[in-house]
Amino acid sequence: MTSQRIIMGITGASGVIYARALLEELLSLDVQVHLIVSNAAKIVMREELGLTFPPARHFDLSRLLGRETASERVVVYDDADLAAGPASGTFRSRGMVICPCSMKTLATLAAGTGSSLITRAADACLKERRRLVLVPRETPLNLIHLRAMVSVTEAGAVVLPAAPGFYHRPKTIDDLVRHIVLKILDVLQLEHSIPYRWKDSDKEK
Ligand SMILES: Cc1cc2nc3c(=O)[nH]c(=O)nc-3n(C[C@H](O)[C@H](O)[C@H](O)COP(=O)(O)O)c2cc1C
Repeated sequence: MTSQRIIMGITGASGVIYARALLEELLSLDVQVHLIVSNAAKIVMREELGLTFPPARHFDLSRLLGRETASERVVVYDDADLAAGPASGTFRSRGMVICPCSMKTLATLAAGTGSSLITRAADACLKERRRLVLVPRETPLNLIHLRAMVSVTEAGAVVLPAAPGFYHRPKTIDDLVRHIVLKILDVLQLEHSIPYRWKDSDKEK
C-alpha cells in the first residue's frame, strides 16, 4: 500500500532523461505516481531516446522505463482527459512536478489558461496551495519566460531549472541528472537516499 500520491507531468522540453530518472526514484519510494505525458513530450522522447509512441494510443510507460511497472505504483492518464482525477482540487496529493517543463506549459500556467490535464492539474495544485515544482529547460531566456517564472513563483510554484551543479564532481551524465532529481525530491520533501549532499559528513561530526 503506497502512502501518498505525487502527480507528475512530462512536457515537451529537452531533457526527458530527467523525467525517466525522476520516475525511477519516485517508484523506489513509498509514493504512488499519477503520470501525464504531453504529446510534445512524446515527440521529444522520439528525438532524444529513439522511442516512438503512436499519437492516439495510451502512453506506454514500459517503453520509457524499459520494464513493466506494478499498476498500484503508477497511474497513467491521457493529457486530453480533463475528467481525470488530478484535474480536480479534491484529488488529494502531496503535490505535482512537471519535469521537464516547456516554456509553453510555463506560460500557460502563468496565464492561468490551462486546457490540458497537465496544466489543469498544476493549476489545481496552485489553487489548493499544494506543492508545484516546475523544471524548465530552456536557454537563453527571454523576458516572457522570465516574467512567467515570476508569475508562477508568486502563485506558489517552485521553479527549479534543470541546471545541475558540478561541486559533487560528476563523472557521468547520470551523475548530473541525479543531482537535479535529488533537488526535486528535496523540494517535494520526500525522503530518498541519493548521495551528493554538500558537506553532509561535516554536519554529522
Ligand atoms: C526535440 C525538441 C526539443 C524541444 N526542446 C524544448 C526545450 O528545451 N524547452 C522548451 O521550452 N521547448 C522545447 N521544445 C518545444 C516544445 O516541445 C513545444 O513548445 C511544445 O508545444 C510544448 O508543448 P507541451 O508543453 O504541451 O509539452 C522542443 C521541441 C522538440 C521537438
